Amino acid sequence: MTDVDLVKENIQLKLQIENLSQDLIKLKEIQKELDESNQRFDDVIHSALDAILLIDGDKFVDANNATVKMLKYPSREDFLMSHPSKLSPPLQMDGKPSYEKAEEMMKMAYQNGFHRFEWIHRKADGEDFPVEVSLTPILYRGRTILHCLWRDLTNARKIEVENQKMQHEIRQKELSLIHASKMATLGEMAGGVAHEINNPLTIIIGYLKILKLELSKMMFGQKDRILSMITDIDKTAKRIGEITQGLYLFSRDATLDNLNQIPVNHLIHTTVSFCLEKFKNNNISLRIEDNSVDAYIYGNETLLGQVLLNLLNNAYDAVKVQNPKWIDITTMINTQNSRIEIRIRDSGQGIPVENHHKIMQPFFTTKEVGTGTGLGLSISLGIVREHGGDLFLETDSCHTCFVISLPQGRPKTKNKVQADDGVGIIG
Ligand SMILES: Nc1ncnc2c1ncn2[C@@H]1O[C@H](COP(=O)(O)OP(=O)(O)O)[C@@H](O)[C@H]1O
Ligand SMILES: [Mg+2]
Repeated sequence: MTDVDLVKENIQLKLQIENLSQDLIKLKEIQKELDESNQRFDDVIHSALDAILLIDGDKFVDANNATVKMLKYPSREDFLMSHPSKLSPPLQMDGKPSYEKAEEMMKMAYQNGFHRFEWIHRKADGEDFPVEVSLTPILYRGRTILHCLWRDLTNARKIEVENQKMQHEIRQKELSLIHASKMATLGEMAGGVAHEINNPLTIIIGYLKILKLELSKMMFGQKDRILSMITDIDKTAKRIGEITQGLYLFSRDATLDNLNQIPVNHLIHTTVSFCLEKFKNNNISLRIEDNSVDAYIYGNETLLGQVLLNLLNNAYDAVKVQNPKWIDITTMINTQNSRIEIRIRDSGQGIPVENHHKIMQPFFTTKEVGTGTGLGLSISLGIVREHGGDLFLETDSCHTCFVISLPQGRPKTKNKVQADDGVGIIG
């Protein structure tokens, strides 16, 4: 080889080395870009709020921090070492074994290029929770594996349940309203019905009177038996009369324009006559103790009767399945504030303390739809307050005890009656 050849080869080699070092630089740049891209990929995956996992067959290749947190594993390493079967309960919601269904889901993801479904997962502490899973096959280090995204559905499910509960409550309130309006219509009808019954009743009672008179003049064998039968019919007819009177009262103009001096005794007895039969039929003993020395209330008899009736009906509901069954009505004058106090106590189980502040709220009821409207106490409180009084639950009593407290009125004088507040009524 000549010197010229040697120089040529040397130049060739130098060129080759130059090219190689250029390639090496390029390769290093590519490697750097690749490293940066991998780092970006890792950053995106690990900073995501949803759980992201890479699954290769039945092994976890990688998982982000959200996965570890969601499943309550102590560390990423602990999680990656666990077997996928540990992350699900034995059966899914449709009753299929989890391992069978998991294979089916993965197969669908590979076939369709994507698959989304709901799954029940199990946390490290054993708690099961719903997840929306999205599976996408991706190329990873020369292999096709599954990229898996989980969205925790626990809160979404909670909101769904809350929504359903709210819908149910709204429906119950609607039914209560329908029932309340039905009751209002019934109240309006009651007056008419009372009138319709009262007319024939008056005729029956009138004829009975005449019959009794005629019979007493006659002298034949069975006179006494017939007379006693007529007396019974008379009593029963009068009882029907009392009930229709109550119905009439219930339906009458119930505004505060129609105010009167009402003897407390009279108010109680008229109202009680309305539910006496119901109490008797259910073996509920009713005791009335009047210590109010013929006191008067100035107000609307219909409205106050309605208050008493509401309280008696509540007491009836509370004691009808109890043993013993009793309801007490006591009236007295509170010497400290000179008010009339009517107490209605019953032998029921009482009102749970947590409900005490709710019972006066409109539509609060613990009774079944169709039985309770939840309006009785709130309406009653409104009526009593309109009368300058108060209605409250006496919590220091060992039985359920509601108190109606009202200012005293004054008995009728010959021409004029006077309420304590000085309002004059022409009698
Ligand atoms: N005497 C009572 N004993 C037990 N609970 C009562 C009594 N009175 C009222 N309550 C409670 O207060 C709730 C509200 O009563 P109320 O306003 O009259 O509505 P309703 O009787 O239609 O339920 C009742 O559902 C019940 O839970
Ligand atoms: Mg009630």
